[in-house]
Amino acid sequence: TEKSEDNLRSPICCIMGHVDTGKTKLLDCIRGTNVQEGEAGGITQQIGATYFPAENIRERTKELKADAKLKVPGLLVIDTPGHESFTNLRSRGSSLCDIAILVVDIMHGLEPQTIESLNLLRMRNTEFIVALNKVDRLYGWKTSRNAPIMKTMKQQSKDVQNEFSMRLTQIITQFKEQGLNTELYYKNREMGETYSIVPTSAISGEGVPDLLLLLVQWSQKTMVEKLTYSNEVQCTVLEVKVVEGHGTTIDVVLVNGVLHEGDQIVVCGMQGPIVTSIRALLTPHPMKELRVKGTYLHHKQIKAAQGIKITAQGLEHAIAGTGLYVVGPQDDLDDIMEAAMEDMKSVMNRIDKSGEGVCVQASTLGSLEALLEFLKTPEVNIPVSGISIGPVHKKDVMKASVMLEKKKEFATILAFDVKVTPEARELADELGVKIFIADIIYHLFDQFKAYIDNLKE
Ligand code: GTP
Ligand code: MG
Ligand code: NA
Repeated sequence: TEKSEDNLRSPICCIMGHVDTGKTKLLDCIRGTNVQEGEAGGITQQIGATYFPAENIRERTKELKADAKLKVPGLLVIDTPGHESFTNLRSRGSSLCDIAILVVDIMHGLEPQTIESLNLLRMRNTEFIVALNKVDRLYGWKTSRNAPIMKTMKQQSKDVQNEFSMRLTQIITQFKEQGLNTELYYKNREMGETYSIVPTSAISGEGVPDLLLLLVQWSQKTMVEKLTYSNEVQCTVLEVKVVEGHGTTIDVVLVNGVLHEGDQIVVCGMQGPIVTSIRALLTPHPMKELRVKGTYLHHKQIKAAQGIKITAQGLEHAIAGTGLYVVGPQDDLDDIMEAAMEDMKSVMNRIDKSGEGVCVQASTLGSLEALLEFLKTPEVNIPVSGISIGPVHKKDVMKASVMLEKKKEFATILAFDVKVTPEARELADELGVKIFIADIIYHLFDQFKAYIDNLKE
């Protein structure tokens, strides 16, 4: 039998932190991509996934340590949003991962979603490394692209070194106030009790080799058991997307096990469980973001951990954020169908039972949950009577029009990151149903509020 050390799957690493601390930019820096600049409003609103093969990590870290032993096949990194509305996506991301990077902006220190992320990680006992990002913003910083951090620090002026030390000390104190011991990673003698801080720049790459090496070494050293490959499939649907030439596809994170072309699978759907079989297993090229459109590699089978695009029949009503189940020869299909529908229940339970409220519509269960969460906050407080996932169709307008008789201002659809069909738009105008669309969650509130204020006048 294989020694478990020789049979490790890729660790899943989630990148978390306050909005605009540079999470996506750090991944862009490692990938050599430009995902961040293509994002609406410069903010991340979906969970992303990128696979980094061990060869690439070795290449990137050779200046730091040429003979590093990499026992894992690679690293699967999950990008999460930092904006306050996306607590659920941070929660989902953190629930998928083995280890995490908590990004802190050196100029800002700990911020509300830093603390929220920290608490999510502590709740699950997830190990994490702090990336103290944007060191290049220290006044007078001398750039040396992609250099190991110790080497870079030595080249900085006394003023830069002093400002760095002062900010570092403040941030270590802030962590202490949260009950956490932290220390610069190369001074940390008690990894496990004291969390490591790696200074980084996502713009010029200093410290990025250190971050990568520490992540891989730390996870393969302390998580052998957790990372030992198991045959039991554990898989989560991240997104449901129509892709030209492939029809409706689902993006999934395979946490454990193996998927094969032709496997019978069950996923949660808007109209009940979807039973289908895998037509194609696709991945982006290594070092490319799964959530960004590109060319795909075809696979007969894929082993965890990996971010995968699956094509199959009947996925149109699949719901993102739910589990994917494989039906094995010994399994009872009914049991699996029931298990697949569990996730949907929790969202349904959040809708106002009085039946008075706006209709909300979003592209994924994740973004729908985020929108529901946002609408529930005291400052916003908009009741919801109906939900839907996917484009706004005529039937959605009909549903919203029920409110015209009860409470006119609620005859409204708040559509987040989805299209409105021309027929739906036409019907809405005819009936007097308002449709607000936005690709940034809080813009929906601004529009709705302006509309309500206008009605009151
Ligand atoms: P959300 O996903 O929206 O939470 O943000 P994020 O944490 O992914 O941050 P993002 O990558 O979008 O970066 C936010 C802004 O900070 C962008 O304008 C980046 O160019 C800038 N930025 C990120 N990292 C660095 C860095 O190391 N140095 C400097 N100078 N700017 C950075
Ligand atoms: Mg981002
Ligand atoms: Na951002």
